[in-house]
Amino acid sequence: MANTIGIVGAGTMGSGIAQVAALAGYTVILYDIEQSAIEKGINTIYNNLAKGVEKKKLTEKDSEIAREQISTTNDLLRLKDATTVIEAVVERLDIKQALLQRLDDILPHESIIASNTSSLSITALGASTERPDRVIGMHFFNPAHIMKLVEIVKGKETSHTTISRITSLTKEFGKLPVLASDTPGFIVNRVARPFYGEALRLLGEGVASVEEIDRIVKKSGGFKMGPFELMDLIGIDVNLSVSRSVYEQYFHESRYRPHPIQQQMVDGNLLGRKTGKGFYEY
Ligand SMILES: NC(=O)c1ccc[n+]([C@@H]2O[C@H](COP(=O)([O-])OP(=O)(O)OC[C@H]3O[C@@H](n4cnc5c(N)ncnc54)[C@H](O)[C@@H]3O)[C@@H](O)[C@H]2O)c1
Repeated sequence: MANTIGIVGAGTMGSGIAQVAALAGYTVILYDIEQSAIEKGINTIYNNLAKGVEKKKLTEKDSEIAREQISTTNDLLRLKDATTVIEAVVERLDIKQALLQRLDDILPHESIIASNTSSLSITALGASTERPDRVIGMHFFNPAHIMKLVEIVKGKETSHTTISRITSLTKEFGKLPVLASDTPGFIVNRVARPFYGEALRLLGEGVASVEEIDRIVKKSGGFKMGPFELMDLIGIDVNLSVSRSVYEQYFHESRYRPHPIQQQMVDGNLLGRKTGKGFYEY
């Protein structure tokens, strides 16, 4: 089916990307292993579309068409005709590689598998398939339906045709594509590591509170969100996985070391907005 996009993972990012693709006129099939995640994801999409209508950014008709474009499934085989699949499952190389192997078996030869990974190697993801030339990074930012930037990450084997097809798709989505090379954390997440890491160290050393650090960064630095507000939005678990992944890929370079506060919060299920409590309460 031309114009069908498969999205794997209906969490924070997958649901946002599904909404973007549907609004751009694509038929979207949203897959997750968890039925509850599918229901939560679809609710988020419907709420965001309703907010878009309320704020007059969308017409009622646009919103209705987008809702009709999205179907959901917990059967990966339903993605078998997709021309592009964008995966947004947990930030773990082993899980993503196993998923890509399955997609590689299911999808037509010419289909592209794009990963929304924040930090993992696109080359390593591509190597788990028989189509490394058609595996690419397509890194959206949170919230995906609002943030314009998308990092397009070229793995060692990614072909020029794949880059050009995904760059065009990103533009059709109304986003701004930026080409990044396949290094741990790419551009944005590399630059962002000290933003979170130093804030966590300041907190751990008792230099300032969560609220003080966020306030200072916003007031004097002009940032829209402080590091703790942003970690709560991203998900403390997702942020820890990315921190760990960048740290490991740089062979334990100390400046990228995750902070024990992150692990403690994950152990306590204090994951930020998605669980109602992180550095702040929601
Ligand atoms: N949260 C952010 O701010 C952000 C921003 C950019 C990129 N990312 C990246 O996007 C990806 C997803 O992050 P998220 O925040 O949406 O996570 P999330 O925890 O909100 O959602 C992940 C979803 O994947 C599902 N899942 C797990 N394993 C699966 C599998 N094998 N098959 C199908 N579904 C599976 C889970 O059930 C869950 O619904 C990660 O790679 C992350 O690094 C996250």
